Amino acid sequence: MAPKIVVEHVHKSFGALHVLRGIDLQVGEGEVVCIIGPSGSGKSTLLRCLNQLETVSDGRVTVDGVAMSDAATDLNAARRNIGMVFQGFNLFQHLTVRRNLTLAPVDLKVMSRAEADAQAGRLLARVGLADKVDAYPRQLSGGQQQRVAIARALAMRPDVMLFDEPTSALDPEMVGEVLAVIRDLAEAGMTMVIVTHEMAFARDVAHRVVFMADGCIVEQGTPAAVFTSPREPRTRDFLRRVSG
Ligand SMILES: Nc1ncnc2c1ncn2[C@@H]1O[C@H](COP(=O)(O)OP(=O)(O)O)[C@@H](O)[C@H]1O
Ligand SMILES: [Mg+2]
Repeated sequence: MAPKIVVEHVHKSFGALHVLRGIDLQVGEGEVVCIIGPSGSGKSTLLRCLNQLETVSDGRVTVDGVAMSDAATDLNAARRNIGMVFQGFNLFQHLTVRRNLTLAPVDLKVMSRAEADAQAGRLLARVGLADKVDAYPRQLSGGQQQRVAIARALAMRPDVMLFDEPTSALDPEMVGEVLAVIRDLAEAGMTMVIVTHEMAFARDVAHRVVFMADGCIVEQGTPAAVFTSPREPRTRDFLRRVSG
C-alpha cells in the first residue's frame, strides 16, 4: 500500500536558522505516528511543512499522492484533505459550535447546509458534545473547545489528521477527554501525526514513535522500543528528563 505521507530530505530554514536538517519520514494509511522531542527541535515546523503552512526550503512532501511542496499544486484543495488541530483551539468565537463545524464545508461547497448540519450533529456526538450544538465557544471548557476543534477538522472529511500538542493548553483534568477522542480516531483507522508531550498517551496510541532533536529524526520505532530500550543517548536523556 502506498504511504499516505512521504517526507523526503526536507530542510527548512528561517533566515540563517536551519531548523529542519534533512527529514525523511513515511506514514502509512491508518498509521498513528507520535513525534516527541525537546522544545525547539522542529516538531511544529515539520508538522506545518506537511500541509505547507510552511514552505520547505529543500526536499519534497507528498500527502495522499499530492506533491504538497510542488509550486504548481493547488494547496487550498490539497489542504482540505488534511485536518489540523493546534494547541490553542482557534475556534471562531462569534459563531456557534454548529456554525464552526459547517462554515468550511458549506462555504467551500463540499456539502449543502442541510448535509453539513446533519454531519455537525454526528461529529459532535462522536466527540461527546451532542448537547453543545447551539453553544458559543466561550461557554465551553478548554477540553470541550478542543473537542469541537477536532470535530471541526473532521467536518472536511480529511484522510489525514495532524495534531500539534493538542492538550498542552489544557488544565490537567481536561487532558483525558481530548486524548480519548484522538484514541477513538486512531481506532477508527485515521492516519495521524501527533506532536505530544503526553508520553503515556504516545506509548498507548502510537504505532510508531519518532524522537526529534536539533532538526533531525534521531530515533524512531515502536513505542516499546523507543520508550523501553532507546538506543540513542539523546533519546535516553530526553526521556529521563520528561519522566522527572
Ligand atoms: N516562523 C518562524 N520564524 C523564525 N523562526 C522560527 C519560526 N518558526 C519556528 N522558528 C524556530 O524554529 C525552531 C524550531 O521551532 P519549532 O518547530 O516550533 O520547534 P518545536 O515545535 O519542536 O518546539 C525554533 O528555534 C523556533 O524559534
Ligand atoms: Mg511546537
